[in-house]
Amino acid sequence: MNQDEMKKAAAEAALEYVEAGMIVGIGTGSTANYFIDALASVKGKIDGTVASSIASEERLKGHGIPVMDFNTAGQLSLYVDGADESTRHLHLIKGGGGALTREKIVAAGSDKFVCIADESKLVQVLGAFPLPIEVIPMAQSLVAREIVKLGGTPELREGFTTDNGNIILDVRNMEILNPVEMETVINQIAGVVTVGIFAHRPADVLILGGADGVQVLS
Ligand code: 5RP
Repeated sequence: MNQDEMKKAAAEAALEYVEAGMIVGIGTGSTANYFIDALASVKGKIDGTVASSIASEERLKGHGIPVMDFNTAGQLSLYVDGADESTRHLHLIKGGGGALTREKIVAAGSDKFVCIADESKLVQVLGAFPLPIEVIPMAQSLVAREIVKLGGTPELREGFTTDNGNIILDVRNMEILNPVEMETVINQIAGVVTVGIFAHRPADVLILGGADGVQVLS
């Protein structure tokens, strides 16, 4: 099995969490795309979806799956999304696709967060993957200086604007030993919209596709 097949296997396994009448929160990225494609096969059973990005919204609509406004959908039962890294505590780094803020909003408003990934995403300590931070454009230099004080090496994601009109700083050399504390500290920097650490609201279930099949951690 290659990495894409592992992502697809994890995404298809997440269908088990979809129940009749649910409004399902949908993440962003290649693994979330596999989930959207799988969800199309049961679209008659759900009431609708809330998308965490314009890209996911377009893919959902392409399958004829209804997409609702998060403000009118209310609390969601289920959110399904990928990740760039996960620990065994289900603390995540997300935002490789730049949709971290909307992803965090939808995850915060969902009863259950099912994370889907291939097994290479499971790590002991978060931080080998460059940590994405969504930043208000005028605060780029300020936030970069504050990140350097924390020991990180920030780099502007060139040519990229988020769905919210902001920039992304990708931060290398961060060994995130205490994800809850680091999420709080970075989110306190003026001009930061969201850091891509999901520790205050971790995943509830992690489905990992691997060479030997699918493994579920919770
Ligand atoms: C997008 C994300 C994605 O979930 C993350 O980047 C993983 O992507 P992929 O499923 O393509 O490996 O956080 O902002």
